[in-house]
Amino acid sequence: MAVKLIVNGRKKLSGQVDIQGAKNSALPILSATLLTGGENILHCCPHISDINAAIRILRYLGSSAYMEGHTAVVRCDNIVHSEIPENLMREMRSSIVFLGAIIARTGRARLYFPGGCELGPRPIDLHLNALRKMGVAIDERHGCISCKVCDRLHGARISLPFPSVGATENIILAAVLAKGTTVISNAAREPEISDLCEYLNKCGARIYGAGESKIVIDGVEELNGCVHTIIPDRIVAATLMAAAAVTGSEITLNGVISSHIDSIIPMFEESGCKIFIDNGKLHMTCPDNLSSFKSVRTMPYPGFPTDAQAVMMAVACVAKGTTVFVENIFESRYRHVEELTRLGANIKVANKVAVVEGVNHLFGAKVTARELRGAASLVVTGLCAEGVTEIEGINFLERGYENLEVTLSELGADIKKV
Ligand code: EPZ
Repeated sequence: MAVKLIVNGRKKLSGQVDIQGAKNSALPILSATLLTGGENILHCCPHISDINAAIRILRYLGSSAYMEGHTAVVRCDNIVHSEIPENLMREMRSSIVFLGAIIARTGRARLYFPGGCELGPRPIDLHLNALRKMGVAIDERHGCISCKVCDRLHGARISLPFPSVGATENIILAAVLAKGTTVISNAAREPEISDLCEYLNKCGARIYGAGESKIVIDGVEELNGCVHTIIPDRIVAATLMAAAAVTGSEITLNGVISSHIDSIIPMFEESGCKIFIDNGKLHMTCPDNLSSFKSVRTMPYPGFPTDAQAVMMAVACVAKGTTVFVENIFESRYRHVEELTRLGANIKVANKVAVVEGVNHLFGAKVTARELRGAASLVVTGLCAEGVTEIEGINFLERGYENLEVTLSELGADIKKV
C-alpha cells in the first residue's frame, strides 16, 4: 500500500515552528567525520532518510554512528572498507559527498555513479578532475568509479568552471589532510560550505575563506572529533514560508539565520507578506490575496537557491499576475509543473524558463511527487487548493523534510499521512 498524504486545503495556519537542521550541511559533515579520531557530537541532525542513509554508509565503512534524539554520535577510529556498495549508493543521490573523505582516510575509494537522478544528469566531472590534480588516479567504467592515491594526496590550485557545491566539498575533504596547500578558485559559497569548514576547523583543520569564492586549505597531520551544531535548513524555512503565504497565515519560524534567506525574503515581501526577524525568530503575516513577484532566477549562493524554486512556484500559482522562473542550475528541475497544472495551475515551460499566470483557485486532485523539492511544492499547493489533494511519492519528501505533515497539522493544516 503506497503511503500518501491527504490534504484538505484552505485552512489557515498559526503558531510557531522550530526549523530542522540543514540536510545539506549534515551530509558533508557526517562524511567529514571519517577524517577524525575520537568522538564527534553533532547536534541538530534532522530525522530524514538521507541522514539515515549516511549513517548506514558510515557504519558499513566501519564507524560507530548512531542518533540520540537529534544528536549524531560518530566515532571513526577503525575504518575497514573503502567502497560503498551499490545498494547503499542507490539509497542516497548525494553519496558522492563521501568520495573525498574515503580517499583521504584510506587512500582509495570505489563508488557507483549515483543512479539517473530526478534532476537530469548529475555529472561529477568537476569532482574527478580536481581529485586527479591532487594525486588521485581514477578509473571510471560500468558506472563504477575506482580511485587510488598514487603516493600521497597533495595540495593543488583548483579553479572550478562552475561553483559546484559537491565538488567544493569533496576538494575540501581531500585537502584537509593532504600534503601542502590547496587553493580553490570559484568555490561554492553556500552556508553549508561555511558550516562544513567551521566543523573541520574545530577538528583542527586550517581552512581560510569559507563562504568566499576563494578558499585556502593548509593540510594538517590529523583531525580530532568535536562538538558541533548544524545550521538550520534554509530550504525548509522557505517551504514553511510558502505554506504560510498561500494560506494567508501568520506564523513564526524559530532558528532562522536571516542572511541565509536574503535572496528569498524579497519575493515574499513583493507578494504582499510582511516579514520581520528578531534574534533568530522570523515572524510572517500573509494577506489573503498575493501579488506576483515578477521573476525568480536560480543562481549559486548568494543568489536565489534552486532548491527553493519549486515551492516558490507554488506561491506564484496563486499570486495575482505573472511570474517568470529561470532555472539556471539544473537541467530539468520542472518535474513538478505537470502535477501543479493538474491542480489547476497555469504554467508554460520552455527549456529553463517557466511562466506562471496566477489563478484565483486551485482544485484538489491526485498528484504524484517525483523528487524532493517538487514533493514539497505539491504539499504547499495542496494547502491552498479547494477540496482534497492526494499526494503519492512522499518517500521523496521524507528524504529532506522531518515529519512535514506533523509540523503543518500542528500549525492548523488538515493534512495526514495514510
Ligand atoms: C547540492 O547538490 C545540493 N545537494 C542540492 O540539493 C542543491 O540543489 C545543489 O547543491 C545546488 O545548490 C547536497 O548538498 C547534498 P552542484 P550538488 O554540484 O552538489 C552541475 C536538495 O534538494 N555539475 O552545485 O550535486 C550539476 O549537474 C539537493 O537538497 C557538473 O556539471 O550540486 C548541476 O547542474 C538537490 N559537474 C550544477 O552543476 C560536476 O562535477 C549544480 O551542481 C558537478 C556539478
